[in-house]
Amino acid sequence: MEYENILTESMDNVQVITINRPNKLNALNRETIGELHQAIETADKDSNVRCIIIRGAGTKAFVAGADIAEFANYSVQEGTELSTKGHQVLFDYIENLSKPVIAAVNGFALGGGLELAMSCHLRVASDNARMGLPEVSLGVIPGYGGTQRLPQLVGKGKAFEMIASAAMIKADEAERYGLVNYVTTQEELMDKCLELAAKITNNSPTAITNAIAAINAGFHTGVNGYEEEIRLFGVSFGTEDFKEGTTAFLEKRKADFPGN
Ligand code: COA
Repeated sequence: MEYENILTESMDNVQVITINRPNKLNALNRETIGELHQAIETADKDSNVRCIIIRGAGTKAFVAGADIAEFANYSVQEGTELSTKGHQVLFDYIENLSKPVIAAVNGFALGGGLELAMSCHLRVASDNARMGLPEVSLGVIPGYGGTQRLPQLVGKGKAFEMIASAAMIKADEAERYGLVNYVTTQEELMDKCLELAAKITNNSPTAITNAIAAINAGFHTGVNGYEEEIRLFGVSFGTEDFKEGTTAFLEKRKADFPGN
């Protein structure tokens, strides 16, 4: 499929999706959000893909936020719709995807950009990255999950400071707070993401899917994460991956997971 604002590339069983609006620091307009959804959905359905990496084009920005020019004149209703749709098609969609998604934060990750990175299951930042939720400096609040996911990752106090001050933090600070898993040089960023992807894709895809669902369950209101873990633990016993994983262990060989 041809896209206007993103690029896709397959590397073995990893799908790399690049947000490609470098002149606008990869800001997320509606079209880009729609294309990201399409590309992620396509990768999710492709049994050859076992991990997804999202990055920004160029060396300056991952994503500098939602496209401010696009929503500057929105009404209350349009603003509500923008946020609702964004949650559905991109941010919640990624968090609950059946495959792991890694954000390669290669520069500014601001507003919707940081929210996109936080929707991903893992984050690796290059040392030039700057992260923040500057929405209150524009008179709005984060609308793509930032008020929920930032406290989950860094704790309520630091999240409040970041949101209320609108300040940017550097990559090393983000690592210290647990906002990113690793920091690398710009040159090493993709290698680190691919190395992480390789560690994950060696394992059972169905077990990874169930682990994503069980981990997320603990953060969903009204869902008992422990009960969901018990259910998904049981489900694992019915998979071909489980048969292969345990058989390979007992036969002292490397497992070759079928992914079902
Ligand atoms: N939405 C729309 N356009 C954006 C954008 C955004 N979130 N962030 C950057 N751009 C555009 C700029 O308008 C500029 O376009 P132009 O060349 O057509 O004027 C281009 O990207 C380059 O940005 P510029 O501001 O000139 O780069 P800079 O190096 O001086 O500053 C930032 C970089 C990230 C500090 C600055 O772009 C910025 O503050 N962006 C907005 C961040 C934000 O508030 N995001 C949250 C949105 S809810």
